[in-house]
Amino acid sequence: MRSSRGPIVAIDGVAGSGKSTTARRVASELGLRYLDTGAMYRAATVSVLRKLGKAGISDPSGADDKEITGVVAESDIEISKDGRVSLNGEDITDEIRGSSATEWVSKVSAVQGVRDLLVPLQRELSTEGAVVEGRDIGTVVFPSADVKIFLTADLSERARRRAVERGESSVDDVGRRLEARDKKDSKRDVSPLEPATDALIIDTTDMSIEEVVGRVIAQCAKAGVTGE
Ligand code: DC
Repeated sequence: MRSSRGPIVAIDGVAGSGKSTTARRVASELGLRYLDTGAMYRAATVSVLRKLGKAGISDPSGADDKEITGVVAESDIEISKDGRVSLNGEDITDEIRGSSATEWVSKVSAVQGVRDLLVPLQRELSTEGAVVEGRDIGTVVFPSADVKIFLTADLSERARRRAVERGESSVDDVGRRLEARDKKDSKRDVSPLEPATDALIIDTTDMSIEEVVGRVIAQCAKAGVTGE
């Protein structure tokens, strides 16, 4: 039996698999909040980079996990219902998508202390029900989610999509960066990227976004999550 919270649709998967677009559209169709947990880890990363700098978090003799956790603990990270992200009251929605945040987010998000701070916030923001997007939503954040989806796609197709989305000319470069980030996210000790045993795995390589959304909505209907 579900607790007092609203319905949770967990959408996990690799970068470029179509998670964000799918999650946003499913949320809008079901009248639920959309929560991008990756944006929260990105905001934490911006905060760490501002306080400690790149050297501080790349050098093993520099910032250790405790220091990184300490910075995040003092950061006021907010994410509005329309997806704007702020750090200590400053809007950083664009900055979190920049190359520095993207380069360092795997490092910061692999720190257990950081996850211990952000996971309760993710649960709190979803109490009225939400479509929650991330890497560990079905496994760690909401192991009893009403619906669990895991999206995958071939690396070359994911790189092509990302390059178009970000206006980058070298699909190969984008592909190499995606592959490196996938590896870090999957190989880490804490909350690694992996499908929950009860997740529906959808390979989106040859699917349109409409088809993916349709499959997720059908899965939600099966679970009795139909929106108002
Ligand atoms: O979804 P994204 O690419 O914006 O996520 C950025 C990074 O944040 C991703 O490389 C891994 C991390 N992340 C995580 O560890 N756990 C989540 N639930 C969401 C994202």
